[in-house]
Amino acid sequence: MFVHIIHLPVTTGIQPGQQPWLGVPEIDIGNTDLIEAKRLPPSLDTRSQRREITLPTGKFIVPQAHSIDDNGPTASMHLLDESATLSIGERLAKALPDRLTIHLIGDLGAGKTTLCRGLLRGLGYLGKVKSPTYTLVEPYKDSRIVVYHFDFYRFTDANEFLEAGLDEYFEGSGIRLVEWPERAQPFLPEADLEIRLQIDSGGGRTLTLLPLSPEGRKCLQNLDSS
Ligand SMILES: Nc1ncnc2c1ncn2[C@@H]1O[C@H](COP(=O)(O)OP(=O)(O)OP(=O)(O)O)[C@@H](O)[C@H]1O
Ligand SMILES: [Mg+2]
Repeated sequence: MFVHIIHLPVTTGIQPGQQPWLGVPEIDIGNTDLIEAKRLPPSLDTRSQRREITLPTGKFIVPQAHSIDDNGPTASMHLLDESATLSIGERLAKALPDRLTIHLIGDLGAGKTTLCRGLLRGLGYLGKVKSPTYTLVEPYKDSRIVVYHFDFYRFTDANEFLEAGLDEYFEGSGIRLVEWPERAQPFLPEADLEIRLQIDSGGGRTLTLLPLSPEGRKCLQNLDSS
């Protein structure tokens, strides 16, 4: 078993404005075979409601693919080098359902595209995986499951997400990998799984997996038993 998930009791709430991932302890375990986890307070979840956003052009409803009652466990691991990032991407590929939205969050150069590259490789895609920084989206239809890889870094206004008609990619089956999801907020549909990558002072990366839906939780469980 690669992933060890520990369920911890919830003892404290989160203050307004506090980011839940900051509560995940930084772990330096030196390899990707061990994961430490904690359960986040269920009170953070507000996604059982539909999000309605009023624009000058009318009302826009952000589709809610799921409703959840519990955020479930998070998992963290240290990735020593690029090959470790590729490797966790490949393992994640084996744990995926046919439909999932993953938000990848991290600074420039944190390893988001590298992880997507590993994931696509794990799905059997053998071609080149380019960063979609300029194209906004790269579709992969030759992999075991259709994958859409987005990068919203260049957005100066979140409205560009709607103007480019990218919301349509979030309907139906397929895996959606989104780099810089925060730049398309509040229009981007919610993630099933959030992946955070942090650059460590030693040069490696800390990866945190945060499931945000039953599908995301299942994915983490599959990873745990892989
Ligand atoms: N675990 C790791 N340890 C050290 N370097 C890594 C690790 N994972 C990836 N890298 C390296 O980090 C660099 C940047 O990776 P990548 O392009 O995937 O980042 P990114 O998060 O997609 O950046 P951007 O925000 O610009 O799209 C690459 O040179 C890659 O090899
Ligand atoms: Mg990238």
